[in-house]
Amino acid sequence: MTTEQPSTGKKLCPVDVWSPEFNAEFWQTIGHLQQNASLGVHTQGSTPCYFATRFADVFSVLRDTTTYSSEHGVAILGGDNRAEPPKNEGRFLPEDLDPPVQTDWRKLIDPYLTTKRVSEYEPTIRAVTDELLDAALSAGRFHVMADFLRPLQLKVVFSEILHLPGSEIDDWMHWSHDLFVGETPEIAGAAFVSINKAAEDLVRERMANPLPDDLVSAVCAVTEIGGREPTLAERTAVVVPLAIAGTESVGTVLGGIVHHLASHPDDLAELAGDRSLVPAAVEEGLRMFANVTALQRTATVDTELAGVPLEAGAKVWTSYNGANRDPERFPDPHTWNLHRDEVRHVAFSVGPHRCLGANHARLMMRTALDRLLERAPRFRLAPGQDIQHFSMPTRGIHEFSIEVS
Ligand code: HEM
Repeated sequence: MTTEQPSTGKKLCPVDVWSPEFNAEFWQTIGHLQQNASLGVHTQGSTPCYFATRFADVFSVLRDTTTYSSEHGVAILGGDNRAEPPKNEGRFLPEDLDPPVQTDWRKLIDPYLTTKRVSEYEPTIRAVTDELLDAALSAGRFHVMADFLRPLQLKVVFSEILHLPGSEIDDWMHWSHDLFVGETPEIAGAAFVSINKAAEDLVRERMANPLPDDLVSAVCAVTEIGGREPTLAERTAVVVPLAIAGTESVGTVLGGIVHHLASHPDDLAELAGDRSLVPAAVEEGLRMFANVTALQRTATVDTELAGVPLEAGAKVWTSYNGANRDPERFPDPHTWNLHRDEVRHVAFSVGPHRCLGANHARLMMRTALDRLLERAPRFRLAPGQDIQHFSMPTRGIHEFSIEVS
């Protein structure tokens, strides 16, 4: 599986991240790369993309925005891309920028997503959670993703952060789902076009009719970023990730947590018996079920990673979920443990691009998990299910059902 690099003796291990085998043997492959290779190499078109899975390597790449730029595009979207060269241009802001211009956008967005600010959303999160649980729990058995977590994350982000009119939320929910877990590249591509069009319409509307104390209106009103006025396309490119960044991730991580508890009765009993552990459960869930399998950086200069020489222009893919289960960092990494000594994971990234929605995501996950445990302290996986995962560009469970009693 591994190949020796003649000049250095460092091992590069070929891996096809879009293959069904990678999905089926995800943790075995990540573990193999961590233990036996310096880096994985996924070849896209004819370009090698170096796949970093160890905590120390991922951490060092993410923190060093001088050597590893985001400006050639970060997100690996659009379905199976084995035949295409990797993306080489940005389209989301501030993701696909480097400091200092990226920092200007963050300064504008951050005040709307502070811990204090997002705490104002808690009543809505509780109300939406309870409304969804009313219907789901009364059925006795329900689809966790479709009936509970997907509508929860989407309704909260679209109503509280984007302040979208209720009549538009279903469309955004549909596109956002297709973009990440659409069954074919065509479906994902069509969803991306629809979201961009809707975001551009939203920007035009808020430029004409700004709302008070509203993040999208602030993005529309700002007159100087990086020393000049942002274009309509740039403002739209900020709104799109605000809509989609948090709409797959929160549900996917929470889905991993609920699935784990439904299939590990002792862990469920511990948490349901002491709900002061919910914040620790959310952190352990973010560590174990971090959704992002790969985001891209581009080397700006000749450099070296894990002892492997990289030329300027080389593509490096960082695996957040891989790093979070690196045994060097987290002993017994595949075991749920609410009492770990080391809890600092990279589910939200580290360094200048650290997730702007982390406070909001944590609040949503803590509130939803606490409400579920209060209202249904005992639940289990419903029998007779064939549970399927998706693994690129994010990993999670498509769907599963639980029974409550
Ligand atoms: C469990 C939930 C979430 C996870 C695991 C997650 C994960 C991430 C990760 C890994 C990045 C870093 C990308 C990089 O290294 O280049 C990121 C960035 C970002 N996230 Fe999140 N995210 C979550 C929820 C949210 C939510 C709810 C929002 C918005 C309300 C959001 C908005 C953003 C934005 C705007 C960025 C870009 C920051 C920048 O490039 O400076 N995220 N997120």
